[in-house]
Amino acid sequence: MTTQTAAPRILSGMQPSNDSLSIGNYIGALTQWVALQDTCDTFYMMADLHALTVNPDPSALRERTRRTLAQYLAGGVDPSRSTLFVQSHVPQHAELAWILSCQTGFGEAGRMTQFKDKSAKQGNEGTSVGLFTYPVLMAADILLYDAALVPVGEDQRQHLELTRNLAERMNSRFGEDTFVVPDGHIVKAIAKIYDLQNPTAKMSKSENGKGTIWLLDEPKKAAKKIKSAVTDAGTEIVFDPANKPGISNLLNIYSVLADKSITALEAEYAGKQYGNLKVDLSEVVADFLTEFQAKVNVYLDDPAQLDVILADGANKAKAVAQETLKRIYDKVGLLPPASQA
Ligand code: TYM
Repeated sequence: MTTQTAAPRILSGMQPSNDSLSIGNYIGALTQWVALQDTCDTFYMMADLHALTVNPDPSALRERTRRTLAQYLAGGVDPSRSTLFVQSHVPQHAELAWILSCQTGFGEAGRMTQFKDKSAKQGNEGTSVGLFTYPVLMAADILLYDAALVPVGEDQRQHLELTRNLAERMNSRFGEDTFVVPDGHIVKAIAKIYDLQNPTAKMSKSENGKGTIWLLDEPKKAAKKIKSAVTDAGTEIVFDPANKPGISNLLNIYSVLADKSITALEAEYAGKQYGNLKVDLSEVVADFLTEFQAKVNVYLDDPAQLDVILADGANKAKAVAQETLKRIYDKVGLLPPASQA
């Protein structure tokens, strides 16, 4: 029997791999996390074990894990409706990852494009086994909670496909009630926010230049980044990602932050210049960040409250994770300890 509840179970996470999340993380994922809280049984984690793949400074990682939580909360994740936890507080993630790694083909893991891109940059000797098995740990995160839906951005689609394949493979070998096969919740319009300086590439958490807006960027600095965003040939302000990737990306960001439809924005800017759009959007972004950061600071100023949220979240997450792992250990034939038999 799975641990599914009447409301669909949701699981997602972000890596605390930077001091700040990006506006891409906010638009592509966090807004969806918040929306799903109303109707679903939502579990959101700080993926600190995944962040170890970039070999962070230990004290920076601890600090970033807290700051990531504060940003989830400031973005509207509500601890009374969602279970918020740190991945490493629930040891079952690493345990299930081992079981799944024994079911994952070497070639299958090697075909993951994020792994191929990162390992190509780092070279063979600089690439850890952890980076290679990263998607397997992500599959464990999801399958441990019998999640039905996984809200993520477009860049995680291939990892979700691997998760589904692993679940289906194990279901056909060990029985259909082994794993819930999860679906992605990828909202096309917002699933990929692009780099402001290179609007055909994803806005990335690992970039440090003018192309990424950080949620904790100084608002004036962020406004400048919008004003210096690369735009396209022509003058018309229309949403046309193939021919006008720069303007379309700005319209997307504008639409989410100002809660206006793209069509309404196109009408508002008919006959106006790119510069008008950029000036207005730079104000929208600066105002959004000012408000967001005020909330983040309130949370960061109260570490005791953050600890309570994390302790409570770890207990709730563990209760589900323990049950699932016991089921899977049994399915694959591990002998239970005598006291549990
Ligand atoms: P991470 O930390 O890279 O990103 C967190 C979330 O933000 C989305 N995202 C974007 N969405 C739109 N436009 C962008 N430019 C953009 N950049 C990032 C990502 O798709 C993601 O949803 N492997 C995951 C973390 C993870 C996870 C999980 C996610 C670990 N275990 C289990 C879901 C379920 C990652 O690196 O996300």
